Amino acid sequence: MAPSAVGSFVALGIFVVFCGVSCYPDVLRKPPQYTINLDLPEEDRWTNVVKDYHQIVPDVYNVLKSYLGNFPFANLTIKAIEAVAADIDNFLPKPYAGEMRGIAKALNMNLGGIVGMNILYDVSAFCTSIVTQDAKGQIWHSRNLDYSFGDMLRNITIRVDFTKKNQTVYSGVTYAGYVGLITGIRPRGFTMTLDERDQGAWWENFIIGLLDRRAMPISFLMRDTFTECSNFTEAVNKMAYTSTEASGYVIVGGVQKGEGMVITKGRLGPVDLWKLDPANGRWFEVETNYDHWVAPPKSDDRRDPAVKLMNEIGPKNITVDTLMSVMSLPPVLNNHTTYTIIMSAAKPELTSVWIRDYHG
Ligand SMILES: *[C@@H]1O[C@H](CO)[C@@H](O)[C@H](O)[C@H]1NC(C)=O
Ligand SMILES: *[C@@H]1O[C@H](CO)[C@@H](O)[C@H](O)[C@H]1NC(C)=O
Ligand SMILES: *[C@@H]1O[C@H](CO)[C@@H](O)[C@H](O)[C@H]1NC(C)=O
Ligand SMILES: *[C@@H]1O[C@H](CO)[C@@H](O)[C@H](O)[C@H]1NC(C)=O
Ligand SMILES: *[C@@H]1O[C@H](CO)[C@@H](O)[C@H](O)[C@H]1NC(C)=O
Ligand SMILES: *[C@@H]1O[C@H](CO)[C@@H](O)[C@H](O)[C@H]1NC(C)=O
Repeated sequence: MAPSAVGSFVALGIFVVFCGVSCYPDVLRKPPQYTINLDLPEEDRWTNVVKDYHQIVPDVYNVLKSYLGNFPFANLTIKAIEAVAADIDNFLPKPYAGEMRGIAKALNMNLGGIVGMNILYDVSAFCTSIVTQDAKGQIWHSRNLDYSFGDMLRNITIRVDFTKKNQTVYSGVTYAGYVGLITGIRPRGFTMTLDERDQGAWWENFIIGLLDRRAMPISFLMRDTFTECSNFTEAVNKMAYTSTEASGYVIVGGVQKGEGMVITKGRLGPVDLWKLDPANGRWFEVETNYDHWVAPPKSDDRRDPAVKLMNEIGPKNITVDTLMSVMSLPPVLNNHTTYTIIMSAAKPELTSVWIRDYHG
């Protein structure tokens, strides 16, 4: 087998898996598109989405069960999730509490399931994000989202335009039932993605987060940022300096030359701000799930293959197609990849989103 046909990655940090190209999700499928009207009451906003996704009801419980089964303090965590659900308006900020209540009601299910799903999805994503400045000065942003629950999540991946007064304020790719955003674009403003940073167990973050009510899930902060901020500088400042339940890598792209950054975020503030510096040759930055100043582990090196191919392509040849080729290179593309997005805040019409599937 040719070396390029062999990829390796770590699943759940335990199993090292080797496989040929053919076992990767090699079918491209466009996700369904929805509009969330922010002028509607919170409880009513997601009704048109969840009516098409009744299958998320059993899946939420499967996810919770398989997750919690593997971790200590499982019962404590379930109790904590139920406590949050019982007093959701006190624990979770607007508009997310109301939106989750509306989703649970539309699905006729326990609010704890929706709360648990929203919090768990926040903490388990392995991903690759790349921010790039091409030779003409245009900023591009591409990402793969890799998840352990790929089969279920591919089925509920959707594109969403969030509108006010019938105008799109921001758009994102998300999962039906999930109210935060970890991938999005504010047209002519900025693009932003979240990659997981593994710092402590997720349930630890969650319980710490409950004790510190100023802290919120990063996915909620990201949606707040898309709602409130209109440019790169504002978005970077809000994301970097707001307390969150977990740490994470926030990748931001803007519309002006040089506006690209990887924020390595701690719970309380930035650990590191890594900005594009095209004048000195740093015309792109690749972030996976490791601090950029340390080498990725050999067992999960998606960074170096992406860097190598980006350098081969070069800043004069950046297009949706060439970026797609980087996101499709194993092990950047791997068995857990659920979707790929290529976007540019300056040219929102170029946005290209694909579910990566095994079957059509
Ligand atoms: C957690 O809950 C399950 C089911 O309710 C129970 O069987 C188990 O003993 C509990 N574990 C602990 C450590 O309390
Ligand atoms: C995903 O959707 C496909 C096609 O509708 C279906 O066959 C499959 O069972 C679904 N998988 C999950 C995990 O929901
Ligand atoms: C919203 O905009 C679309 C086209 O952008 C138009 O077709 C539709 O009629 C508008 N709806 C309202 C309520 O203004
Ligand atoms: C970003 O937006 C803020 C608030 O609207 C404004 O004060 C600032 O000048 C803008 N910065 C850039 C670089 O456009
Ligand atoms: C651009 O990159 C693609 C993919 O790597 C390659 O096939 C093509 O030859 C390149 N074009 C130029 C002009 O360098
Ligand atoms: C990848 O996932 C597919 C579909 O679930 C499965 O058939 C295949 O065996 C998996 N490959 C590896 C290496 O786990």
